[in-house]
Amino acid sequence: MTIGEFKKYFIETFRNYEIVERSSILSMLLEESLGMNNVEAHIHHHKEITAEQLSELKQRCQQLALNIPVQYSYQKAYFFGLEFYVDPRVLIPRQETEELVDWILQTIIGWGIPPLRVLDIGTGSGAIAIALKKQLPQLQLTAMDISAEALEVAQANAKRNKVDICFLQQDILQVEDLGQPFDIIVSNPPYVREQEKQQMHPNVLEHEPHLALFVPDDNPLLFYDKIATIATRNLDPQGSLFFEINQYLGKEMLQMLRQKGFHSKLRKDLNGNDRMIMSQFVNEPTNY
Ligand SMILES: C[S@@+](CC[C@H](N)C(=O)[O-])C[C@H]1O[C@@H](n2cnc3c(N)ncnc32)[C@H](O)[C@@H]1O
Repeated sequence: MTIGEFKKYFIETFRNYEIVERSSILSMLLEESLGMNNVEAHIHHHKEITAEQLSELKQRCQQLALNIPVQYSYQKAYFFGLEFYVDPRVLIPRQETEELVDWILQTIIGWGIPPLRVLDIGTGSGAIAIALKKQLPQLQLTAMDISAEALEVAQANAKRNKVDICFLQQDILQVEDLGQPFDIIVSNPPYVREQEKQQMHPNVLEHEPHLALFVPDDNPLLFYDKIATIATRNLDPQGSLFFEINQYLGKEMLQMLRQKGFHSKLRKDLNGNDRMIMSQFVNEPTNY
């Protein structure tokens, strides 16, 4: 089979994926199994795939047919130009989250980059914390997750990317006070309502950790509410709170944050969905 024929086979077989996602899966297959980027694969589309490569590609396609995400198949994901180890213990880091990291970096750079204390709540693979530390090594990063398994992956990723981060296993819903101030608190917490499950692709639903995804329909802001309350105690008065959010709950988020004394900016992601919020205190908060 030639590279061109494989591409055609792949596109026809995986019609159930949206075009953009299918293209990105195909790119990863070409890159990881054939060592070619899209342009190289296009130029060499008449080239025969070796028997060994073909057998590997077939195995990957069998996993994809079982809805196993391609990143779990290769145990690899790219985030902010860095390589992360991923497996079903952690959520696969998303492009929207890269946009949030970019916003945080631009904000910090605007402040003049003093050494800042940053907390990432629900760190998962460690993507946010590691990307921030890699870009701005002078930051002091703390990263928290309830899942010991996720923290094992995050620690391995910090080592792989040669950054020093303080990891904590803690259930944020049980925390009242962090015991120290932070200049930036960031979180991409679970935010998918049970009622949104039907809209999700089986590769997410069947393979990514539900602990990382779902919140109850009757309390979808559970994590944001708790983190914002903690921020009123532990965020430096000049500091900022950053959230990735459920695209359908932007207004509710702004209202909740306003009630807690925050002034917030809502931003859309590249797909035009309300996706991230930055909040700062309007006035110095009174602890409660
Ligand atoms: C949406 S994932 C985000 C992962 C990673 N930060 C990212 O952006 O790719 C949410 C993370 O929150 C963690 N989590 C869920 N409940 C938690 C809790 N009560 N306390 C702390 N972390 C929690 C999950 O284990 C998961 O790693």
